[in-house]
Amino acid sequence: MDKLYREPEDKLDIMEADLECVLLTDEQIQRRVKDLGAQIAGDYADNGQGPVVIGILKGAAMFFADLTRAMHMPLTMDFISISSYGGGTKSSGEVSLKKDLDGAIEGYDVLLIEDIVDSGVTLSYIVRLLQARKPRSIKVAALLDKPSRRRVPFKADYVGFEIEDKFVVGYGLDFNQKYRNLPMIGVLKPELYMN
Ligand code: PRP
Repeated sequence: MDKLYREPEDKLDIMEADLECVLLTDEQIQRRVKDLGAQIAGDYADNGQGPVVIGILKGAAMFFADLTRAMHMPLTMDFISISSYGGGTKSSGEVSLKKDLDGAIEGYDVLLIEDIVDSGVTLSYIVRLLQARKPRSIKVAALLDKPSRRRVPFKADYVGFEIEDKFVVGYGLDFNQKYRNLPMIGVLKPELYMN
């Protein structure tokens, strides 16, 4: 018999128990990501070589993997890593480049993939940094958008879900580097990060 997806003692349950509620189920995320992938691929359809798709590590890892597989077209991949949060639940406002792109983007269509737009600091910084390298275009796909938290104006071209100002984890999003491998997105119990 096939092994059950989740057994009662599954360690996934231990992480799930730290959630106050599930905001987006695995199925809701997968459905939306497939639709977004098809929409984005359609928008780049007349670009023969396809975009350079850039994942912003580490939070975008899951979204990047699923979205690019839902874009049925040739494309190339690169990654960049920025630090903006420190270890807590709020953006520090300080941004530093931890890992630059491997390749040049001059003349290419660039699609940045991000897990969440919160204060907008991270994406404003990255877009400014990459604009200076003269790509043909830059677009941004963000799975989650928390517009109520903006400190600098920023609008993503593609947004999976607009959400309220709750601290969420799962599907790439972490608290102190944990919970990224949860397949769903949930609100973390506040007592776990408030003391
Ligand atoms: C988080 C998140 C976004 C950014 C959003 O990254 O993944 O990149 O913060 O916040 P902002 O809009 O307020 O700038 P983090 O620095 O925590 O790194 P991570 O992706 O490795 O989790």
